[in-house]
Amino acid sequence: MKDPLWYKNAIFYEVYVRAFFDSNGDGHGDLRGLAQKLDYLQALGIDCLWLLPIYPSPLKDDGYDIADYYSVLETYGSLEDLKFLIEEAHARDMRLITDLVLNHTSDQHPWFQAARSDRASPYRDYYVWSDTDQKYQEARIIFIDTEKSNWTWDAHAGQFYWHRFYASQPDLNFDTPAVQEEMLNVVRFWLDMGIDGFRADAVPYLFERTGTNCENLPETHAYLKRLRQFIDAHYPGRILLCEANQWPVDVRPYFGDGDEFQMGFHFPVMPRIYMALKKESKEDLVWILDRTPPIPDSCQWAIFLRNHDELTLEMVTEEERQWMWRQYAPQDRMRLNLGIRRRLAPLLDNDRRKIELANSLLFTLPGSAIIYYGDEIGMGDNIELPDRNGVRTPMQWDSGANAGFSSAPPQRLYTPVNSIAPFGPQQVNVADQRHDPGSLWNTLRRMIALRKANLVLGWGDFAWAESHSPAVAAYWRTYQREQMLILNNLSHQAQSVTLNIAADAARVFTDVFSGDAWHPSEDNELQIAMQPYQFLWLKRGEG
Ligand code: BGC
Repeated sequence: MKDPLWYKNAIFYEVYVRAFFDSNGDGHGDLRGLAQKLDYLQALGIDCLWLLPIYPSPLKDDGYDIADYYSVLETYGSLEDLKFLIEEAHARDMRLITDLVLNHTSDQHPWFQAARSDRASPYRDYYVWSDTDQKYQEARIIFIDTEKSNWTWDAHAGQFYWHRFYASQPDLNFDTPAVQEEMLNVVRFWLDMGIDGFRADAVPYLFERTGTNCENLPETHAYLKRLRQFIDAHYPGRILLCEANQWPVDVRPYFGDGDEFQMGFHFPVMPRIYMALKKESKEDLVWILDRTPPIPDSCQWAIFLRNHDELTLEMVTEEERQWMWRQYAPQDRMRLNLGIRRRLAPLLDNDRRKIELANSLLFTLPGSAIIYYGDEIGMGDNIELPDRNGVRTPMQWDSGANAGFSSAPPQRLYTPVNSIAPFGPQQVNVADQRHDPGSLWNTLRRMIALRKANLVLGWGDFAWAESHSPAVAAYWRTYQREQMLILNNLSHQAQSVTLNIAADAARVFTDVFSGDAWHPSEDNELQIAMQPYQFLWLKRGEG
């Protein structure tokens, strides 16, 4: 647990506590339930859990609308349960980070209640008020399917209040020094509890300034640096993961000189993995990685295939977005805001080869991988459910009642188990896949183990390799004297690739999965025939 740069080569697992395991039969997953499943996560090879918000909340945005920063949602358990979970995770060498929602609270938060009912309240300035709804017009609306404006009139307050997300989530006013202090107190409270860091939600929007789009402002970076200094001074080794759904060039400043965030999501690479698979071409991946600036050595990208939100199409052109919707969300109800509310397996036609190939990209492109709960067994979605709920259904542990998630009567579950074929618990569940050596779960477990055993994949530089086939995404990862050549055949057809190999290093390439070896020819060409959707992780030198 000592390595301060542990996150460079860690496997993260995003877990929605409500959906994971219900330990007390009330139909809701809880912290004790998650603790009971840590052995499962350890067996998969997970190094760090990221918990979606666990705080008291009216749940208008599944907990991202916080009503109390210092406690745990009742159905999830107690602070004692959280401490127990942290201890159990640490005992398994696993870390745990939670969501930190700085930008906004719930409208049920006592601060907002006090602010709206009395102009003289010390909490009035905790939020952003205005007599008109015409300020900050350049700021875009994020939840375009539900919100018409970033301002909402509040009759009690007699003013409009500012919100970048749902109207039930008023933005905090970071120009108020007390808000800045409060948030440091929040951070202190959870780090004292023993968590290993935070996924900091929606950080681009902390400040508002006239004449700007109110995103990524210098004031925001100044505050985030202050937050980092505070953590480094009192809790060294704990991490901050930045959620900024922005272009890489705009995310780059969130790493600072290694003095702001240790990690940041790479949002735009994600839709391009799906574009690459559908177009059977690496061109979109090349395009975005060419536009990804280097980051300080102590920092790391976080990459992912899916998460708890819609598959966001904010970081693509309008034309690409229409194309993605046509390809991956042919029905209207599969779409939400600027994205697609479906899970990995249905998006990839439940085709094992494509799912594994997407995971090969996840584990070998630059960054640390985050797996969304349930995707390791290929769970499906339920597009009949509203908002993003269709990708937040109960974890499918076995083929029994409630998929082994809960002992409650089915009608008491927080949401129904997804029983839509071919993704119901009869076809997709943990128990069956753990028994089957050829299952998706067991394949991913092997991939995870190999990713972790090869530090070059976490630490190494990245460079494209010329494969002479647009359908094969081939690249070098190099760290000190270690080198790996990664080949991903994005096509449904076999491909022959020829790569030129520099003559100055080891002349054997070993497949880390099978142990098979390849040797370049006399004139330093490596020729490989690849099966449809095949991927190869070749280590230079003996395996
Ligand atoms: C989270 C969403 C949430 C929003 C508002 C996002 O970035 O991922 O689930 O609705 O922040 O808090």
